[in-house]
Amino acid sequence: MKFFIDTADINEIKKAQEVGILDGVTTNPTLVSKIGRPYREVLKEIAAAVKGPVSAEVIGVEYEAMIKEARELARLGDNINIKIPLIEEGLKAVKTLTAEGIKTNVTLCFNAVQALMAAKAGATFISPFVGRLDDISSEGMDVVEEILAIYNNYGFETEVIVASIRNPLHIKYAAMMGADIATIPFSVFKSIVKHPLTDKGLAQFLEDYKKIPK
Ligand code: G3P
Repeated sequence: MKFFIDTADINEIKKAQEVGILDGVTTNPTLVSKIGRPYREVLKEIAAAVKGPVSAEVIGVEYEAMIKEARELARLGDNINIKIPLIEEGLKAVKTLTAEGIKTNVTLCFNAVQALMAAKAGATFISPFVGRLDDISSEGMDVVEEILAIYNNYGFETEVIVASIRNPLHIKYAAMMGADIATIPFSVFKSIVKHPLTDKGLAQFLEDYKKIPK
């Protein structure tokens, strides 16, 4: 399973890259708004700093506006894919962009039938938001399981990005289900390597090493 980081903060991206297991980045307007610099400037900087895919979201909600914006955003870097909201106009845009060879990440997906439509439109990636479903007492990971089953039934190549991740269990279940990608907030990325028994065991080993005659 590929690990993406869900942030627009270049410092977080660089720190995650140093671990050596980062495969890509996803952003959205909310994440970029936290940086306090112009939208496209931030996205361009991220695209240049990252080898793997970087998602950049359109702001337009109508077909023509999305297409125009997507073409401009795609020019910010060869690794940019365009985040398109899962609405009717968005599906139309995905169809056109796919025909032009521009990769898309269809975002704000909350059920498996929406994901089926995105795959039929030719989406490169689909992003089900599991945490936001959990927040309203729905099982977010059930939707991921359903999407994977449907894509497998018909051989769709659209890659499933488990998004809106809140905790390590989302990552565990994503991997057990065979999701292609988990896009992880920096705070969760930092926490998943940690286990108290690892820290305790390491401290003990270092202490015991001191007892070995030199
Ligand atoms: O980037 C899309 C998604 O991961 C957003 O997550 O935490 O705002 O629900 P969140």
